[in-house]
Amino acid sequence: MSAWAIESDSVTDTVLVVDFGAQYARLIARRVREAHVYSEIVPSSISLEEIRARKPKGIIFSGGPKSVYATPAPTIDPGIYELGIPILGLCYGAQLVALQLGGTVSRTGAGEYGRTELTLTAPSPLCVDWPTTSEVWMSHGDAITEVPPGFVATATSPGAPVAALHDPERRIFGLQFHPEVVHTERGSEVFERFLLDACGCLPAWTHVSIIEQQVAAVQAQVGTERVLCALSGGVDSAVAAALVHKAVGDQLTCVFVDTGLMRSGEADQVEDTFRRQFKIDLVHVKAADRYFAALAGVTDPERKRKIIGELFIRIFEEVARDLGAGTGAGGADGAVDEGPKYLVQGTLYPDVIESGSDTAANIKSHHNVGGLPDDLSFDLVEPLRLLFKDEVRAVGEELGLPHDIVWRQPFPGPGLGVRIIGEVTPERAEILRNADAIVVEEIRRAGLYRTLWQSFAVMPAVRTVGVMGDGRTYAYPIVIRAVTSDDAMTADWARLPYDLVERISSRIINEVEGVNRVALDVTSKPPGTIEWE
Ligand code: XMP
Repeated sequence: MSAWAIESDSVTDTVLVVDFGAQYARLIARRVREAHVYSEIVPSSISLEEIRARKPKGIIFSGGPKSVYATPAPTIDPGIYELGIPILGLCYGAQLVALQLGGTVSRTGAGEYGRTELTLTAPSPLCVDWPTTSEVWMSHGDAITEVPPGFVATATSPGAPVAALHDPERRIFGLQFHPEVVHTERGSEVFERFLLDACGCLPAWTHVSIIEQQVAAVQAQVGTERVLCALSGGVDSAVAAALVHKAVGDQLTCVFVDTGLMRSGEADQVEDTFRRQFKIDLVHVKAADRYFAALAGVTDPERKRKIIGELFIRIFEEVARDLGAGTGAGGADGAVDEGPKYLVQGTLYPDVIESGSDTAANIKSHHNVGGLPDDLSFDLVEPLRLLFKDEVRAVGEELGLPHDIVWRQPFPGPGLGVRIIGEVTPERAEILRNADAIVVEEIRRAGLYRTLWQSFAVMPAVRTVGVMGDGRTYAYPIVIRAVTSDDAMTADWARLPYDLVERISSRIINEVEGVNRVALDVTSKPPGTIEWE
């Protein structure tokens, strides 16, 4: 178990979500946390000893894409039913419970996909005070046709003879439907009933308790050592820095590298927030000239990314050495204090899940400063590694970070560098930054900023002819890129209202010198990507 997992004898009740291979496990874990109970996703290969060691108050089996009769089909040690821990099986999980405990799962040939009417046939402890019929969301081929000994069936649907079942003695439950998806009308109540009534969990996982626990964990890890944190202007590094600062105060030094490729106002906001509001020791490196020099004449997207990433690492390395990191003692000013030993990373729980282990999150962007020389090795402090993005935002608000930072849309590590197609010059960066500021301002004004996953301006590597006043122009076009998405893996182009598009277009052309045309990108992902490079 990683240093960041909640200790099993801590005050926080833990519920384990066993992942049977569906994308639903993550959603289930989030729903549990929304009910203020801490949840962790574990693989179905987990041993009984590992389960016991984590002392969960409840266990939830997720759905899965396979049939329980597939070979191989994911399964779990049936000894789990003897641990005396309440269990809730969902969809595939419910069928597994039924099968392993002696019931029958059949290929009825009448699968259900999407909205389905559920009919209660007997009182269910998880569907308290529900009307006889309600709308739920189903996705199954096989169906439970006979309950195991000791179980009662409490609901049915057109394609699921047994749509809900439970064993009151052992507190084992199964639901054929998915309470974790929003289309199930009263799904969140199902989790509350299971967590609070069946498992006896305390709803104590709140953003206040998250902060208290992580502050204590950072203090225990870091002691009196110094800590370094690279700020990117984005929400994750900002919240991580604010948390670590709350834990260890002026032992923390933040580094912000202004690459010249940041969004409008970003550098000022970092200064305002961290230096002036939080009084954090901030090293602000104004490195735009170095970036533009390194990027001069370079047009290949991959080379641009590489140059931007490597330069960041070099600059970060210089700052770290100035602060005495890697030398054991003594800063550049000859002071005798020890240099920073720890490096903060804004790794989130989805990164931890994706990396397949809870010990090694992948290094994702250049802000994670992989690639530092061997003599500059840091121990990592990852105060967000248990959190989902919505929890990170809630924690950020609780810590007093400005809304603008907490709710900021994602921004790529290489910054505007991947939105300026072709050569990156100070002039082109300035044009794009000004156009982007107008896109963002108008999107905010229209109340769409939080609904959109990302909305920004892109500058292609062409110029087009136009006419302004009496004269012919030959200037850059700007492309408006706005997408909706849940996770950036897929995205749809946003149907922005035409009057909004018109406002953005006329403002950009009137206010941004060097632009004479505005276009709208109507490509989804796939086949496009969100960024242009
Ligand atoms: P694409 O363009 O691949 O982007 O659809 C998916 C998401 O990732 C962001 N992105 C990056 N983030 N470093 C980052 O930290 C990068 O190099 C990078 N490239 C793309 C992009 O903004 C979108 O949210």
